[in-house]
Amino acid sequence: MKNINNEGIKNKEKFSEPPALTKEYCDKAIQFILKKIDQNLEDFTYKYPAPASVNNVYPAIDNVEWTSSFWTGMLWLAYEITKDEKYRKVAEIQLESYKKRVDERIGTGTHDLGFLYTLSSVAAFKLTGSESAKNISIKAADLLMERYFEKAGIIQAWGNPDDPENGGRMIIDCCMNLPLLYWASEITGDKKYHDAAASHIKQAEKYIIRDDASSFHTYFMDIYTGKPKYGQTVQGFSDNSCWARGQAWGIYGFPLSYKYTDDYDLILLAKKVTNYFINRLPEDYVAYWDIIFTKGEEERDSSSAAIAACGLLELSKNLPLTDNDKRSYENAAMHIVKSLVENYTSKDCPESNGVLLHAVYAKPHNKGIDECNIWGDYYYFEALVRLVKDWKSFW
Ligand code: GLY
Repeated sequence: MKNINNEGIKNKEKFSEPPALTKEYCDKAIQFILKKIDQNLEDFTYKYPAPASVNNVYPAIDNVEWTSSFWTGMLWLAYEITKDEKYRKVAEIQLESYKKRVDERIGTGTHDLGFLYTLSSVAAFKLTGSESAKNISIKAADLLMERYFEKAGIIQAWGNPDDPENGGRMIIDCCMNLPLLYWASEITGDKKYHDAAASHIKQAEKYIIRDDASSFHTYFMDIYTGKPKYGQTVQGFSDNSCWARGQAWGIYGFPLSYKYTDDYDLILLAKKVTNYFINRLPEDYVAYWDIIFTKGEEERDSSSAAIAACGLLELSKNLPLTDNDKRSYENAAMHIVKSLVENYTSKDCPESNGVLLHAVYAKPHNKGIDECNIWGDYYYFEALVRLVKDWKSFW
């Protein structure tokens, strides 16, 4: 295992007590999300919210983006907690468009297949046992395997893997896409998917996580030799800064690989990555879009907070009672969620069709700055569901 620094939790007192976050309080927050879903259900049955809102309103688009499944995943969460068939009906209608995407390879040249199919067809299979959902998911896992670059032991992020400019790139986000592969091995009995995912996560530990436990957004391996080259940001402030959402993908992604590999090093690593993140949170627990910023006027990324909250709960769940940080991580998740509920939802912005305001998609590319992000809405919902019930994960 690489020698990555563990800062420990520096401001322990900030996380020593949970906030007042009762089941009733979380249920009320969930009711708000369900109301938003109900308002959007008709517009987003055959269409999908765009990745980011414009003036806090998601435009309706076809199922072509990497983000469609966050909406479908919200429908499955809604179905799971209410058992109301109206959510299942729309989520099942949408499965057709996910099938079309894998059959016709529409926007499938990306590691994001894991996001796309875990929250749509795998969730459908887990909740309903649908054979067709199972087959769509296996096909998606096969497409994702096409991006496995054996010499480097990584899943390549996007674009043509043979392109000397863009090929050989792995990214921190991909940690969240590996559960599709682990699941495919469990369901088919073919180890190849699991082995690729398990190899990728160790390479992410080795190259994407820096010695101080911060993360590169992306990292290049040589497309001819598979040897490591250099880290580069696409959505963060700079190549050497730490993009908040990337770090959050790591907080959640490493424990998810632990779940399937039993490799406890991944939990130890997740603790270091998490400590780096929570040590840099501002007063209200919601990170700036890049955690090089800890105060001032830069935008927050509420979506990174929601992802981190889910990751903190997953990490805490996997730590023994004897671990001194277990409670702090759980408390940190609850502080984040409480802050989101209090100050980041669209409750005072009735014109919005989103749930969480104040997220950043890609500031260096002038995309979705201080807007709603559909994945922020999804993870906020998942975090609340995790807090009110013993949730059987889609991941
Ligand atoms: N996976 C791309 C993003 O987090 O914006």
